[in-house]
Amino acid sequence: MALTDFFSNFHLFMRWFHVFAGIVWIGHLYFFNFVNLQLQATLDDATKKIVNPQLMPRALWWFRWGAMGTFLSGWVLFTMIYMYQPGIWGPTELFSNMEGVTGRAWWILIGMLLGSIMWFNVWFVIWPSQKKIFGLGVPKAAPEAIPALRARATLFSRVNTFLSGPMLLGMLAAAHYSAINVPTFLAFTAIAVAFIVTSYRLSVRVARVS
Ligand code: HEM
Repeated sequence: MALTDFFSNFHLFMRWFHVFAGIVWIGHLYFFNFVNLQLQATLDDATKKIVNPQLMPRALWWFRWGAMGTFLSGWVLFTMIYMYQPGIWGPTELFSNMEGVTGRAWWILIGMLLGSIMWFNVWFVIWPSQKKIFGLGVPKAAPEAIPALRARATLFSRVNTFLSGPMLLGMLAAAHYSAINVPTFLAFTAIAVAFIVTSYRLSVRVARVS
């Protein structure tokens, strides 16, 4: 592989960028769920009024643009790996062969479906609610509307945290496991969900033990 091979080098850069943006996105998702939720419960209203207008716009900026970068680079990667070879458009051998859709493609299709649902939740549910809660670019919601907006954002953020487990499994299994295997998917999803449940439980306790 030479530096002059544009396709391969662009591919490597896209993989790097995809994982970079994914860390930014999912890192903030886990910060919101495993740190900030518990922190907010300990702050009084006066402190919240000082901390949150500074913290939340910054964190939400990295969160939503991380999601966008991951989503867009993910679809570029999909096109480059499964739908294009230099000079030829259409499903590649990594997508399908004489036996039908490959195991690798099934894994990534599952991961991409879950990742795309998560991206939708960020841009069309969580961010619109947060915008109104903090008055970011739109009029601030009336005080009586805020609890419902907050509950909606928290619920979808929690759903995304759980979806991140099997989503990441699809991302990793595509290139590194390949054979599609329902028991593997279910077993690793159960392990990931158990880790996430444990992380929620731990996040309540860490403030006391750290
Ligand atoms: C939002 C929708 C997403 C789409 C459409 C997408 C798409 C893809 C595609 C097409 C690949 C290449 C798979 C292959 O080599 O066969 C990939 C790999 C990967 N993705 Fe995603 N992805 C998404 C979200 C995420 C997120 C949120 C993360 C979190 C960090 C992530 C992390 C990864 C990782 C670690 C790899 C493996 C890189 C490698 O093994 O070289 N992806 N993704």
